[in-house]
Parts: sequence; C-alpha cells; structure tokens
Amino acid sequence: MKSPKPVFVCQDCGAQAPKWMGRCVECGAWNSLVEERPAQAPAGGAASHRYHPGAGGEARLYAEVETTTAARLSTGIGEFDRVLGGGVVPGSLVLLGGEPGIGKSTLLLQAAAHVARDVGPVLYSSGEESEHQIKSRGERLGVDRAPLYLLAETCLERILEEIARLKPALVIVDSIQTIFSLKFQSAPGSIGQVREAATQLLFTAKGSNVPTFLVGHVTKDGSLAGPKALEHVVDTVLYFEGERHHSHRVVRAVKNRFGAVSELGVFEMTGGGLRPVPNPSKLFLAERPVDSPGSAVLCSIEGSRPILVEVQALVSTSSYGNARRMASGIDQQRLALLLAVLEKRAGLNLLGEDVFVNIAGGMTVDEPAADLGIVAAVASSVRNRPIPAGTALFGEVGLAGEVRGISQAPLRIREAAQMGFQRCIVPEANLDPSAGGAGDGDGCELVGVRSVGEALDALLP
Ligand code: TYD
Ligand code: MG
Repeated sequence: MKSPKPVFVCQDCGAQAPKWMGRCVECGAWNSLVEERPAQAPAGGAASHRYHPGAGGEARLYAEVETTTAARLSTGIGEFDRVLGGGVVPGSLVLLGGEPGIGKSTLLLQAAAHVARDVGPVLYSSGEESEHQIKSRGERLGVDRAPLYLLAETCLERILEEIARLKPALVIVDSIQTIFSLKFQSAPGSIGQVREAATQLLFTAKGSNVPTFLVGHVTKDGSLAGPKALEHVVDTVLYFEGERHHSHRVVRAVKNRFGAVSELGVFEMTGGGLRPVPNPSKLFLAERPVDSPGSAVLCSIEGSRPILVEVQALVSTSSYGNARRMASGIDQQRLALLLAVLEKRAGLNLLGEDVFVNIAGGMTVDEPAADLGIVAAVASSVRNRPIPAGTALFGEVGLAGEVRGISQAPLRIREAAQMGFQRCIVPEANLDPSAGGAGDGDGCELVGVRSVGEALDALLP
C-alpha cells in the first residue's frame, strides 16, 4: 500500500494545503503550516473511528425521549461547581485553559483529591510533571489517602488503556498539548495531535460516561493554543484568569453545554493551594481608599452573580504633546466613548489631560452597566472631590449623555445593601414599577437619574 501523502496544516486555523506555503491562504497567518502525515486507514475504514451515541440509528419523536436529569458530580469545591453549572455532568469533556503558572494543575489536583475521597477512583494523567512532582504538590494541598491514581504519560493510547483498566469516576489529562497519538507522526501540540487526542478522549468520556477534564495552554494573545477546533469538540470551556501579582484567580465559563456561560468562580492562591472565595465583593473592595477622589464602586453581574468592584480613575495634565488614555480592566474603546460623552454632555474639559482608568484587583468588567461608574470616577478625579463613601452605582451611558436602564437591577442593589452601602445611584428607568421596578432597595436609598449630568449632581454636589 502506498504511504499517504503528507498534508500541511495551519496551526492557527486548521486549514489544509497540499504543499508548504509561507502564509495560510485561509486565515493569513504567517509561517503557520506544519507537515502532518495522516494515519494509515485502519482495516474497518474511516467508519470505525466514528462514535455511535445509541445502538439504533433511528430518529425518535421529541416527546418520546425521556428526560434524564443525570446527577452531577460535585468536585468538592463550591466555586468550581458553580462555574460548571452545579458540578460536572457525567460523560462531559471540560477544557480548562489558562496561562502557565496560574494554577490549573493545582485546582484540578484539589478537585481530583475530593472526588477520589467522596466518589471513587480518579486518574490524574500528567504529561508535564513526574509522579513525584505531583505528589510533592499534593503534600502541600493536604491530599491524604484516597484512590487517586497518578500517571506520568504522554502517549494517548496508554492513557486510554489505563482509563479502561481503572474505570475511574473522573479523568484529568494535564495539558492536551503534551499528548501524542501513535497514529500520527507530527509532534505533540500540533493541531492534528491535539485534535486526535481530544476526539479520542471525547469518545471515551461519552462511551464510558466518565467526566474528563483537559488542561489547555493559552498563547501569548490569550487564546487557547493552536486549536480553536478544540473548543468545538468539548462540552465546556473554562478559562483561568488572574494577574500574576494578585493572589486571587477567576475561573470563567465561556462555553457550557450544561449551564450558564460567563459564570464566575473566584479563588485565592494560598500556601495550601487554591481557596474558594464565596464573597468576592468583599475581596475586591478590601483595600478601597475611603474619601479619595477618583474612586467609585460599581455593581457588575458576572454570570448569575452580582459583584461589587472598585473603578479608579486618575486625570492629570499631560506633559507630552498628545494626551494618553489608558484603560485596564475595561475596554479602551468604551473609555474613549465615555470620555467624549463627558466632554460634550457634562462640560468636562479633558483636552490635554492624561486619563488612566483601572479596575482594582485585576478584575475585568465588560458590561455596559459599568459605564456610570467609570464616568463618575473620571469626573470625581477631574473635580478632585471624593464620591461619598457608602454610595454604589450602575447604569449604561448613551451617546446623548442619557443614562439607560440595565438588567437585573434588584440583584445588584441587594448585593450593595449586603455589603453595607447606604445609597445606590441607578437609572431612572429601573425604578419604574411597570417595568419590574428595582425592589424596595433592601435598606438602600435609591436615587434614580436620567442623564450623566443628574448623576454627577447627585454624586458630587
Ligand atoms: P500550577 O497549578 O502549577 O499552574 P499551571 O498548572 O496553571 O501551570 O500553579 C503553580 C503556581 O501556584 C506556582 O507559581 C506556585 C503556586 N502555588 C501556591 O502558591 N500554593 C500552592 O499550594 C501551590 C500548589 C502552588
Ligand atoms: Mg500545570
């Protein structure tokens, strides 16, 4: 039999070409084509690769399909269960991405230890660390005697064998980029290998109903390394975020077939591993300077949970020719828009001023409800007057300087009241009882505003 022709696969988008080229014709990436040799077709033809969800292949009537509320498996870590939508679904494949050193292995080892103790055997397969390294990490995390099996292996077929032998309740594959299949000649981490490994693990997960976690590395620009294709294969994609210089970490769901997306779990990295933070607002407001100009507290919704964060602004006269506008934790374009609204509709003079805006604690906020908080922080810095302590705010700002209503106002107000805030500046539209209203304020005084001007009058009289 003739050996199959090599194909050149773009490592960025997965497009194939018959010959090497300097630039991918599909996505335009430079120098991204790598030679890959497809496997020899197995005896049964391509069909033997295919996954058969049910034995019979007949279409069934919607009403006749029984609803299965499969019991979810708790990872024993409340914040992690929350991101997964209430625990992991049996047979699901979950991808956990994040920068190196952020704590992916730590979190999964902790989860593995809990599941091994409470449910049954767990297989932790690592292509990055030896059993001894994992064990010494486990000592620090207080992993005690539990049926936790460690496997330092990079060969996919060996891992699948071990899964078949141990029949674990949970499988963890630490870094999909280190796994290679004997069927391909390309290097581990190339798109063909990664896709093959993920697909085979998916078949195993679905076939034997064992939930599987995959660790994925991210590239410098923050996307999952190489295979965008991987995100389509798996059921759930989680991102581990956080700043190296802060001890807190955030796990965010960006795709979830079994739960809400943009759900958030907050952790703190301690000497003894990751500790869940059930009350993130407290963490993000911990070091807030009281009565200092340029600081505002806004209430943002992450997934289903309200979180109070502090936005800080500093406006200072530029000593260079063109003024700088820097944003961290919010979108740069959004900041430019809000500054233009402030100039035009609220009469602030920002020409020739440097503007720096930062969300404290390394958080990222990307919903429009944060607009009013950003605007207030900038105005407070310009006027050099503090926003009264005990005031929280939220609302979307439009180009005409109007403050627009936003979703889930009662939830935000309740969180602010619980954190001891006495006054909330909210969009007037959210107070309208015919539109649902904003509740009784839970002990918080509610001030409705219609425009940026009104909001600034209420905040900085
Ligand atoms: P790790 O889980 O190895 O990261 P990843 O798998 O995402 O690459 O996390 C490593 C970092 O976490 C490392 O910088 C040390 C820190 N760490 C602690 O602070 N406390 C601990 O108990 C552990 C296990 C790690
Ligand atoms: Mg690791």
